[in-house]
Amino acid sequence: MPEVIYLNGQFVEPENAVISIHDRGFLFGDAVYEAMRSYDGRLWAMQRHLQRLRRSLHEIDMGYVDVNIIAEVIERAYQRSELPDASVYLQITRGVQPRRHAYTQDLVPTVLVTVRDITPMLARINRDGESVMTAPDVRWKRCDIKSTNLLPNILAHTAAIDGGAHEAVLYDAEGYVTEAASMAVFCVEEGCVLTTPLGPEILPSITRQFVVEIAADEGIPLREERVSLERFRNASEVMLGSTSHEVCPVTRVDGRPVGDGTAGPVTRRLMAGFKRRVAAGDDAVRE
Ligand SMILES: Cc1ncc(COP(=O)(O)O)c(C=O)c1O
Repeated sequence: MPEVIYLNGQFVEPENAVISIHDRGFLFGDAVYEAMRSYDGRLWAMQRHLQRLRRSLHEIDMGYVDVNIIAEVIERAYQRSELPDASVYLQITRGVQPRRHAYTQDLVPTVLVTVRDITPMLARINRDGESVMTAPDVRWKRCDIKSTNLLPNILAHTAAIDGGAHEAVLYDAEGYVTEAASMAVFCVEEGCVLTTPLGPEILPSITRQFVVEIAADEGIPLREERVSLERFRNASEVMLGSTSHEVCPVTRVDGRPVGDGTAGPVTRRLMAGFKRRVAAGDDAVRE
């Protein structure tokens, strides 16, 4: 099945999936999104994605969007795809208005959902690990909102690819690691997992939530703590996490091997713990 596309109330063929040149998402990046996935015929961690979506919408003054209706649309689009393992993308823009900075409250949001087969890449990453390049974090001060304003992320990510790595790990003006261009970041020091505390500097990653829960369940020490670039570069293990990549090992940072250059023991436990949660369909929101 080719990509399923839902746009503003209907399922459309790619050639008919067109938006207005006055769409504020196109003009200003005035939009939020969610990137979800399914495993084996079931959407994964939907309540968590919807919670984050609700918060993103609220933070950009679009709290009037009915997320329950959005959830139904996502489910319909997913069912239509008939794909067991799919990548599901949702974008909601503020709507169409001739270009001016100030928005009015009467705009009709543009809603896009796409569903496609998820690229089979995890086997390679789980085996070889990712290599990352560090880069300054030049993003705005509200990275906790999942907005489509991703220019700094895509520039850093592309520079990492061009430099022979897979992903960029970002550090702030004080030299502390924040997160990666499109993933959460973890490192291990003396057996303890360290990850950036939640706040406006990072996206509240859903994979990060699972890692925190799995570490607690399995008795793996974990601290939410800012880590300097120097400590990060000397960590015994480094991991990335995202919906599409799950928990994956990082085996090189700025060209140097992490530990012995293979996935370390804590990383392997967290990867296995994540896979167990997926196999059990255990994605309910915890208090
Ligand atoms: C900047 C950034 N951080 C972290 C993540 C990982 O988030 P999640 O685990 O919810 O996929 C993403 C995913 O899109 C991201 O763009």
